[in-house]
Amino acid sequence: MKKIFDKYDITARLLHWISALVILWAAISGFYLTSLNNDESIKHQIAELNVSITVVFIPFFFWRVIHRIKHGIPSYGNLLSEREVKIARAMHILLYTLVTVVLLSGILMMKKDFTVFNLGS
Ligand code: HEM
Repeated sequence: MKKIFDKYDITARLLHWISALVILWAAISGFYLTSLNNDESIKHQIAELNVSITVVFIPFFFWRVIHRIKHGIPSYGNLLSEREVKIARAMHILLYTLVTVVLLSGILMMKKDFTVFNLGS
């Protein structure tokens, strides 16, 4: 049976903020790249940085999913109605699914070999 607690633990909070920073950075800079018309060298550098950051993020994302499954979430108390809890749960599952799809499709979009922060090259 899962424990009832009223606050996310430090691991959950850290993993949450790492995810938020990586996803916001990759999304904003990714769309910015598509709007840059000329500077190919800056484009290339940001794209390479993004591949490295998001590849390093993959194990952290899976750690987050496993932590969530193992530890559950704090009790909502009577803050939300049963219907709102169901909607919040569905939205979170959708978010986890979308991030998984974005990470996998990102890897599949790579046309050539890549390095992570130039390691091993
Ligand atoms: C948090 C995860 C990620 C987010 C939020 C993200 C976001 C984005 C965005 C907004 C774009 C530009 C829009 C577009 O072309 O559709 C993009 C393009 C791209 N992403 Fe990601 N991405 C993520 C993960 C990854 C990963 C893990 C890889 C591969 C290792 C990757 C590789 C690429 C590639 C190759 C492009 C195309 C760049 C180009 O047009 O030359 N992405 N990404």
